[in-house]
Amino acid sequence: MKNKTDLDRLIDKAKEARKQAYALYSNFLVGAAVVGESDKIYTGCNIENSSYGLTVCAERVALFKAVSEGEKEVKMLALVTDTKTLVWPCGACRQVLAEFNRELLIVSSNLKGQREEKKLSEIFPEVFDKRSLKK
Ligand code: THU
Repeated sequence: MKNKTDLDRLIDKAKEARKQAYALYSNFLVGAAVVGESDKIYTGCNIENSSYGLTVCAERVALFKAVSEGEKEVKMLALVTDTKTLVWPCGACRQVLAEFNRELLIVSSNLKGQREEKKLSEIFPEVFDKRSLKK
C-alpha cells in the first residue's frame, strides 16, 4: 500500500500492540489503538490473570492510557485480532468506551487485512451514562 491513511496507521499501531498481549490462558491475542482529542495515539493489549475474571481487554487498556494522560474524549478506536470473523468490543468495554464518546468510530481488523467500521452507537444503542444519573 503506497499512501497509508490515518486509519491504516491506527490499525498498524493496534497490530503492533497485539504482539504485547499477555494472554497465557486464552491464547487469544488482541491489540487496540485509540486516538485522543489531541490526535495522540494510545495503544493497548489484553492483559490476563491467573484469577481469570481480573483480565482486562485491550480496548480498556488503550482507553485508560489515553484518559490517564489527560484525554477527555477519544475519536477513533482500532481493534486487531487473528480471527476470520471480525471482533467487536465486549459489553463491558462498550459501556466504558461510551463514557468517553458515544459516537466513537471503531474499526475492527484481522491479520488478513479485512476490516469493517462501525459507530459505537450502532453496536451499543442504549447507554447508561452521566445523563441517566440526573434525577
Ligand atoms: N478480549 C479483548 O481484549 N477484547 C475484546 O474485544 C474481546 C476479548 C480479550 C479478553 C481475553 O483476554 C481474551 O480476549 C479472550 O476473551
